[in-house]
Amino acid sequence: MALSPSTALSGREPCRRNGPDSDAACGDRSASCMNNWRARAPLAGWGELRHGLNGRALSADLPSTAGSGRIVPNSVACAARIMATENYEAGSSQHILSYEEPIPVANSADDDPDVDDSAYGDDALSDTTTIPSTIFRHRYLNGRRYHKFREGEYWGPNDEEQNDQLDIAHHMFTILLDNKLYLAPVENPKRVLDLGCGTGIWCTDVADEHPAAEVIGIDLSPIQPQFTAPNCHFEIDDITSPWTYPPNSFDFIHIRTLYGSIGDWPKLYGEIFDHLEPGGWLNQLEISIQFKSDDGTLAPDHILSQWSDIFHEAGERFGKSFRSVLDLKGWIKEAGFEDVHEIWHKLPVNTWSSDPKMKELGRWNYLHCTQGAEGWGLFLLTEVMKWTKEEAMVFIARFRQGLRDRKVHAYFETVTIYGRKPQAKTA
Ligand SMILES: C[S@@+](CC[C@H](N)C(=O)[O-])C[C@H]1O[C@@H](n2cnc3c(N)ncnc32)[C@H](O)[C@@H]1O
Repeated sequence: MALSPSTALSGREPCRRNGPDSDAACGDRSASCMNNWRARAPLAGWGELRHGLNGRALSADLPSTAGSGRIVPNSVACAARIMATENYEAGSSQHILSYEEPIPVANSADDDPDVDDSAYGDDALSDTTTIPSTIFRHRYLNGRRYHKFREGEYWGPNDEEQNDQLDIAHHMFTILLDNKLYLAPVENPKRVLDLGCGTGIWCTDVADEHPAAEVIGIDLSPIQPQFTAPNCHFEIDDITSPWTYPPNSFDFIHIRTLYGSIGDWPKLYGEIFDHLEPGGWLNQLEISIQFKSDDGTLAPDHILSQWSDIFHEAGERFGKSFRSVLDLKGWIKEAGFEDVHEIWHKLPVNTWSSDPKMKELGRWNYLHCTQGAEGWGLFLLTEVMKWTKEEAMVFIARFRQGLRDRKVHAYFETVTIYGRKPQAKTA
């Protein structure tokens, strides 16, 4: 079925001020006006939709987004088109920054309509919630929805607002990794397991890319699409419980952004090791929540620095440290993996860099952080740090404000670690 791209992607209404076909910015800040994004977002190309959000498996010719060439769903794709105004293209011959190089800063540090335009800032994406039939599998706190199974184990909400953030992150990571879904040298996987799969968007893409593979995603929350490729399915389970799969069941196990979610990483790596077949690969991408700058523009008392400090403290109190990101490689080696590689990347928090790829990543990361902030913060600040909801909301608002500051050249890092189970396991 051929759907109109704007209707299919956004479900938004035609612009009442300028008319449905106008490309002029209408200035309507509400999320429902399609010209809000269309006026700012020349479409970058057309492709095939690969993923429907929350069970809505759409099939239509829809615009792809700049950078990765991958297609992301509904509100994420709308956001993509808001953002897709730059010329950065993955795989082009432009200079690729190494991790050691400081991220170059753009000249006009205080003039960026993307960052200052609240049209896609704090409130632009969907904040509507429907009562699901699976209500008893969720619980509600401070107006946000959380997983019910193994209640309290994970700090993030599992509602539409947070799921959109996960899908935005997926798109950002594929740009970061130059359109790759992982860095391990896995060519033709047969049985793939994704731990803490979230919305299942990575599994869906891997299943598409490797139709001969069986892909399984596991999560505490039932937030994956019901209609998937036949080689992809999802299970609701706690990955920290003893695993019931037979040993050597998988040839590729994947983890992405389980930061602050695991109390005992060595135990989990032991399970992963036992359930990979000899020669199988583990690939993990994690985020550090430590905001940094290369040029000292991020002061220790800036709100982004305060954010890092508070959530490092919250992670310790919660018993699932955000600092573990620095130890993962060592624990993976101790579990018995060989050929272990660790690759760090920087992700600017907004468009302050002059480097095209960094600028594109900054554009996505700004959306990622503004979309994610409340969900990242609320549970840990109120339930763990014992702040009032009002105190938490003020802190989150200050954080969002801090993200906009292009004179502060802030970024955080991701690390990708991959390693192989030896062909013959030594006792
Ligand atoms: C930050 S999200 C990342 C989702 C996904 N990996 C991605 O990159 O899009 C973390 C996910 O891990 C899940 N999770 C946390 N602890 C878990 C556990 N013990 N067992 C299974 N899933 C867990 C959460 O429910 C959440 O969906």
